[in-house]
Amino acid sequence: MDSPYLQTCDIPVEYFAIEPFTMVIFGGAADLSQRKLLPALYHLCQDEKLPKEFSILGFGLPEMSDEKYRKFARDSFKKFSQESLDDKNWNQFARHLFYLSSDFKIGDNYKKLYRRINEVTSSTKENKKEVIFYLAVPPQFAPVIIEKLKENGLSKSTFNSRVIMEKPFGKDRSSAVELNRTVAKAFDEKQIFRIDHYLGKDTVQNIMFFRFSNSIFEPLWNRRYIDHVQITVAEDLGIEHRGLFYESAGVVRDIVQNHIMQLVAFVAMEPPAGFEADFIRDERVKIFRTVRPMDEEYIDNFTVRGQYGPGKIGTREVPGYREEEDVSSDSNTPTFFAAKIYIDNWRWAGVPFYLRTGKRLARRITEISIQFKQPPLKLFGRTCDVLEPNILVLGIQPEEEISLRFGVKYPGSANQIYSVNMEFNYEESFKIKRHPAYERLLIDCMKGDLTLFARQDGIEAMWSVVDPIISRWESRPASNFPNYSAGSWGPKEADEFMEKEGQQWRKW
Ligand code: BG6
Repeated sequence: MDSPYLQTCDIPVEYFAIEPFTMVIFGGAADLSQRKLLPALYHLCQDEKLPKEFSILGFGLPEMSDEKYRKFARDSFKKFSQESLDDKNWNQFARHLFYLSSDFKIGDNYKKLYRRINEVTSSTKENKKEVIFYLAVPPQFAPVIIEKLKENGLSKSTFNSRVIMEKPFGKDRSSAVELNRTVAKAFDEKQIFRIDHYLGKDTVQNIMFFRFSNSIFEPLWNRRYIDHVQITVAEDLGIEHRGLFYESAGVVRDIVQNHIMQLVAFVAMEPPAGFEADFIRDERVKIFRTVRPMDEEYIDNFTVRGQYGPGKIGTREVPGYREEEDVSSDSNTPTFFAAKIYIDNWRWAGVPFYLRTGKRLARRITEISIQFKQPPLKLFGRTCDVLEPNILVLGIQPEEEISLRFGVKYPGSANQIYSVNMEFNYEESFKIKRHPAYERLLIDCMKGDLTLFARQDGIEAMWSVVDPIISRWESRPASNFPNYSAGSWGPKEADEFMEKEGQQWRKW
């Protein structure tokens, strides 16, 4: 957009020049690589965001030559990316792709890995090679890989290494502490990039820009003016082919402990002392630490769980959770979560945060809505005892917009108030290509910028919030599962819960 007011707070680009690098992807032929990583790397290459010299080395069990891996990557792109593939650009990208077929559980294979990294890294510079290890494998394999990298001197001494770790980090606080201990023996904190792709979404980062670059909202952003906050992360997708993972994770570990908590942090955090990674991460962690601890009685009264049964998404019949591949027919794994939490600090004391997320809901929508308090109504007399509140909506996806709902006078002689919307839409305003979350985060890691990655203390603090809920739910299996139909807005208990609160979930 060509605006005289367009300002940048980026540190100049030269400062962050990306060095030639090699990225080793453990799980190079697995689901995440196919769906997200390989397409993201192709886009970055096509957009000339990568240095001239770089190599991507897939590491995985299936037997493949480099050539076959290139074909595999191309097929994955065609299958999972919405965008068309340009042959010339693809060929340019594909020559940077290599593959090593090996088992990462076996120590000797790391010697092969070392040799292969040296073969595929063309840089002849004197200084140490930049190597990024991406752990795109199920979380239980992370410790094994980390230990083997350390034992073989690949984590620190041989290369300038970084490691990218996928969520979930552990399955509760104590396993996260343990995992962090293992990782810390191999890597320094500044080498560790714990990825939560929600942090790479422009609209999520925008929450901070919106709050702290405007003087009109921030004065209202507190308990005096805000009645409550609602955060919804609704998906129409089911669990796809991830039954094994989902059975051991469930909705709280999959979405609440990370994505939802990060959204809460962006909405609730104090302004950071500066734009450096640690200043921002400090403020996010403070929020996790001030979430009011939940005891069993609280959890029974102020959380709702659900599991989807069969139903319809649009016109398509879909199976219930218990009928999905690799899911037990009497599974108690929750696929829906709703709760009220409080942040016990000066700004938010007494303001409820209502959180809701679920699989196979009526549609895909991630949204934060800030509902403001009622004004004194005397002026308008008895016709308006209750006014529709002012609501500020931050649409994260798929609608990327900000809207403010406010009352105006309805035309005519009656004194009637009517609510209208003022809207800003990203796509309409900025007609430029936006980078999906993974692309942004991969670039940040290549630059060594940790701002949008989680820190060890943050991970542990997020687990402290959700651990009591997981334990309570696991110790008392739900007797009413499945309790919502695929394609609905979740269990009726979630609506009843809001009614008791004197509130309503947002509807679309
Ligand atoms: C992942 C979860 O982290 O996020 C998935 O493991 C979920 O279960 C996905 O579907 C949602 O991401 P997005 O970007 O589509 O909202």
